[in-house]
Amino acid sequence: MKERLQQSISKKAPDLMPVLKQDDIHQKVVSLARRISADYQDEPLLLVGVLKGAFVFLSDLARQLTIPVEIDFIQLSSYGCSDSSCGEIAFQSDLSVDVTDKHILVVEDIIDTGLTITKLIEHLKKLGPKSVKVCVLIDKYERREIAFQADYICHSVKSGFLVGYGLDYAEQYRNLPAIYDLKF
Ligand code: IMP
Ligand code: MG
Repeated sequence: MKERLQQSISKKAPDLMPVLKQDDIHQKVVSLARRISADYQDEPLLLVGVLKGAFVFLSDLARQLTIPVEIDFIQLSSYGCSDSSCGEIAFQSDLSVDVTDKHILVVEDIIDTGLTITKLIEHLKKLGPKSVKVCVLIDKYERREIAFQADYICHSVKSGFLVGYGLDYAEQYRNLPAIYDLKF
């Protein structure tokens, strides 16, 4: 009992260092949505949100678009990893709509090593869409293992572990309205 109390006292809560405020995110989302609306115009566009991390970004982005879009989700998970990608990606749920003759725009939370997005693009291309492009909330570029450049980037950082606005650490912090760097 005494030992458990001692452990919980010495466990310091991690600090949250601000990276992007709500207003900054909003401005960036509006400007990305303008570009996407202009680029696709009357082309049939399917937004594919990658669960769970992209749910907040996709819902804000979709509402700023001025073109008709379909929306679907795909759920991936990197097994047994709380704070980084392991390179082992499991598809927990796949698309529920036909992608033939549609452009796919993948909406992803963060690209780190590039392993997840590369595997996802391979998978989506096999389904026969007109094109596959990627829109990412955070491009975290220092730890790239596969060269990858997203088509639309909301914000770039070199390193860190970011949480909030959909991004989690061990399923926590997704509901924070701004983005923070978690300092352990
Ligand atoms: P990648 O395969 O290394 O590019 O990692 C992609 C996935 O790892 C993301 O979709 C996130 O789920 C997770 N991830 C990587 N870095 C972070 C981070 O800084 N915060 C939250 N999740 C992260
Ligand atoms: Mg995650």
